[in-house]
Amino acid sequence: MLRVLVTGGAGYIGSHTVRELQRAGYQVTVLDNLSRGHRAVAEVLSGVEFVWGDTADGELVRVLLRSRGIKAVLHFAALSLVGESVADPALYYRNNVAGGLALLEAVREAGVPYFIFSSSAAVYGEPTQIPIEEDHSLAPFNPYGATKLAFEEALRWYGEAYGMKFVALRYFNAAGADPEGLMGEDHRPETHLVPAVMEAALGRRDAVTIFGTDYPTPDGTCIRDYIHVTDLAAAHVLALKALADGHPSRVYNLGNERGASVREVVETARRVTGREIPVLEGPRRAGDPAVLVASSRRIKEELGWRPRYGDLETIIRTAWEWRLGHPRGYDSSRF
Ligand SMILES: NC(=O)c1ccc[n+]([C@@H]2O[C@H](COP(=O)([O-])OP(=O)(O)OC[C@H]3O[C@@H](n4cnc5c(N)ncnc54)[C@H](O)[C@@H]3O)[C@@H](O)[C@H]2O)c1
Repeated sequence: MLRVLVTGGAGYIGSHTVRELQRAGYQVTVLDNLSRGHRAVAEVLSGVEFVWGDTADGELVRVLLRSRGIKAVLHFAALSLVGESVADPALYYRNNVAGGLALLEAVREAGVPYFIFSSSAAVYGEPTQIPIEEDHSLAPFNPYGATKLAFEEALRWYGEAYGMKFVALRYFNAAGADPEGLMGEDHRPETHLVPAVMEAALGRRDAVTIFGTDYPTPDGTCIRDYIHVTDLAAAHVLALKALADGHPSRVYNLGNERGASVREVVETARRVTGREIPVLEGPRRAGDPAVLVASSRRIKEELGWRPRYGDLETIIRTAWEWRLGHPRGYDSSRF
C-alpha cells in the first residue's frame, strides 16, 4: 500500500482529500502547521498520521519523506485570503513560495517521483474568455494568485530538470462538505460565500453582504463556478493514479463548467435550509471579475474525471448538514 504526504491536510480541501485517499487504499501522513487548519480533523480521520510542522522546515520534511517511504506529495498547505495577500504580500511569498520551495527541495533530494499541487483560478486574473481553458493567459492580479503561479512555474522547471512528475490542479470555488458528514468548511475568518451563507442561516452572522449588484450579469451579482469539495478530492486520486501509470505532467482546471450568481446561491440556500438569510447590498470589491467559469474538458477527457455532487443544491445541502451538526464549526465538534 502506497504512503503519501499531504501538506495542509488539517484544512478544508486537504482533509476531504485525505478521506478520498484512504478510500482508495493509500496510507496518509499529514503535515500541517495548524496556522489555519483544525486539530479536530485529526480526531475525525482515524488511521492517518498527523505531524504538526511547517513545510518550510526542510529537515523535518526530509526525515518524513525518507522514514515513511513516501511515494507522492499532495501539497495543499498555503495561505489563501486574497485581501490578506494584498495587505501583506511578504507573508504570502514567505509561506506559499519560500515555504513551498523548501518542501520541493526536500522532495527533490529524497527522489519522491510524484507531486500534486493545489493551484487556483486566481492564476488567470481577469478572464478574456469564458469558459476559461488551461491555455488562457496567466495574469494574476493579486499576490495570492502570483504566489500560486510562481510555484506552478517552479514545478515545471523542476520537473524538466530533475524528472519529477507533477499535476497542478487549478480549483475554481470549492464548496460543500463530506457527504458522510465527517468534515466540513470552517475558515477563520470566513470569506467564502457558501459557509458565510450557512452562518447567516444559523443566525451566527447578521447578514450576508453581496459585494456589487451592478455587474453585467443577468441579476447584477458576480457569477462563480462552485465545485463540490469531494469531487475535487476525487480528482487528486485520479491525478495520482495517472502519474503512476506514466501520464505526463499536466495542468488541469477543476470546476463544474457552470456559473451561479451570488443571488442564486443565497436563493438556493434559502430553499435548502428553509431559513431567512438576511442580505446586505454593498459596493463591488476591487479585483472581483464579473464571471469566472471553468472549462474542465481537459481533465474529463484525459483522466475521466466526472463530478458526482455537481449541482448547487447538493453542494449547499451537504454544507448545511455539516453546519447543523457543527454550528460553531470544528469548535463544536465533540472533540
Ligand atoms: N478553498 C478554495 O475554494 C480554493 C480555491 C483555489 C485554490 N485553493 C487552494 O487549495 C489549498 C487548500 O485550500 P483550503 O481552502 O483547504 O485552505 P485551508 O486554509 O482550509 O487549508 C490550508 C491548510 O494548510 C495549512 N498550512 C498553511 N501554511 C502551511 C505551512 N507553511 N506549513 C504547513 N501547513 C500550512 C493550514 O494550517 C491549513 O490547515 C490552498 O493551497 C488554496 O490556495 C483553495
